[in-house]
Amino acid sequence: MPDALAATYDAFPYESRAFADTHPDRLATVATLFGISPASLAQARILELGCGMGGNLVPIGVAYPHARLVGVDLSTRQISAARDFAAQVGVANVEFKAMSLTEIDASFGTFDYIIAHGIYSWIPDDVKRQLLRVCRDTLAPAGVAFVSYNTYPGWLSKRVIRDMMLFRARGTADPAQQVRLGREMVQWVLSSTTEPNQPYIRKLNDESQTLKKSDDSYLFHEYLEIDNDPLYYREFVDRVAGADLKVFADARYRIMSQAQPEVVRNALAAAGENLVEREQYLDFLKDRVFRRSLLCRNDLPATERANPDAVRGLRVATLVKPVNPQADAAGAARVEFANSDGNVRVNTDIPALNAMLLILADLHPRCVPFPELADMVQTRLTRNSSSNEEPVSIDRALLASKTLDCYGSAIVELYTDEDAFRVELSDSPRASPVAVALADAPSIPNLRHQLYAPSAFDRLVLKQLDGARDRGAIVERLIQAVEAGKFPLQQGGSPITDPHSIRDILSRSLEPSLKRLASAMLMIA
Ligand SMILES: C[S@@+](CC[C@H](N)C(=O)[O-])C[C@H]1O[C@@H](n2cnc3c(N)ncnc32)[C@H](O)[C@@H]1O
Repeated sequence: MPDALAATYDAFPYESRAFADTHPDRLATVATLFGISPASLAQARILELGCGMGGNLVPIGVAYPHARLVGVDLSTRQISAARDFAAQVGVANVEFKAMSLTEIDASFGTFDYIIAHGIYSWIPDDVKRQLLRVCRDTLAPAGVAFVSYNTYPGWLSKRVIRDMMLFRARGTADPAQQVRLGREMVQWVLSSTTEPNQPYIRKLNDESQTLKKSDDSYLFHEYLEIDNDPLYYREFVDRVAGADLKVFADARYRIMSQAQPEVVRNALAAAGENLVEREQYLDFLKDRVFRRSLLCRNDLPATERANPDAVRGLRVATLVKPVNPQADAAGAARVEFANSDGNVRVNTDIPALNAMLLILADLHPRCVPFPELADMVQTRLTRNSSSNEEPVSIDRALLASKTLDCYGSAIVELYTDEDAFRVELSDSPRASPVAVALADAPSIPNLRHQLYAPSAFDRLVLKQLDGARDRGAIVERLIQAVEAGKFPLQQGGSPITDPHSIRDILSRSLEPSLKRLASAMLMIA
């Protein structure tokens, strides 16, 4: 069976990209919140199972040149592409192995972080057991493993789509043809129904909107792959326990019961204090389709809930900005903050929290160690208090607890490690080699492993940022690109051909472009 599975990935490679949820810093951060002391990232040993073409592992290797990284995948074609990508980027500390994870033995040594993204649900049951066996045998004592998987109840309705696609494509060997037939089948049901308002059809219609946006590779491996076995969270926890490991948290802390709004937390009271019970109740409530569980050794003490005090050992960056840029944290005035999409809003009259978010907004996108941040908050509030008031002394425990709430509400991010990106650029600006190599890719992982899609002009600039050119030399290269017709400059729909105008426009456009690339966290010097 592994041969058949390898053949589907050889025939239809899975788009390989970075997943911020799998980044070892995320694993270390959540582990810290749950009472584990994870290994520092600089020299960590990291294993990725089912690493595909290295899109996730290579950027991590670049960020941590002294770490040791190993990627394993069954598909020789994908591993060959992964090696090419590593060579193109010039990363020497990532080793890629074309083999089945079932063959991983003691010769691999142990790992501080193991990543298994998008593989557990897509492999046969015996390989699933082996995946957990590998985690148990190769996790270092304080190691953390990330395992994601498809879950019920959310997958119950998606399962119908998989079944109808498999039914229509049965007997067809070519994956591309299977995808075409699968898409046709869903459309056939939707266009043939006489009851468009039936709940089944409405749900199918919703799912079909997502399918329209999905590329063929994703659709094939999600819906037409040989194996895709969703399961309930509770069942996964039991299997993990059977392998002498335990699930201690989700890599997305904000989906956990503890991070829910008060009304949901109250509703979950029926589930009691047990983590697994609460999380399973929540999956039923939210119709959840996917989970990203964090595992550790069974004997490692981890807390049932995130500890607010652990925030004191972490770094904080904001995801929101004040709606009114003139806002100040003086007194008890309410300040409203929102993220760039406007879908996360916070409105608080807690002076220390307001001051913290305003300080972080000024420093955006940088992160600040919590103790330093608390000092900055103290200084700002003392400065803002009028001379006849007692100087305020902030409650650091309360601020840490509010910061954890903000992490659960996607208002701040938490990290263990310092920023790998630079906001102030050198005379010869340098982008991450991954970003330069992927300048033409649909989306580019930044130094926080988040995906970013620059404008066409910023992509052209990005290609020049290998650190070997100063701004003057970069402008010359941009001019050459425009003159060679690689980047058409236009005004009012007509091409600009006057050399002085071209030079002038490109010279003026460079600095704003560098600023955008820096604030997108793509620059290292
Ligand atoms: C759905 S893809 C996910 C790839 C990547 N981790 C991601 O999330 O984008 C599953 C990957 O697991 C690999 N795989 C399947 N069975 C495997 C096995 N027994 N050992 C190692 N890799 C395996 C496949 O070749 C494929 O690259």
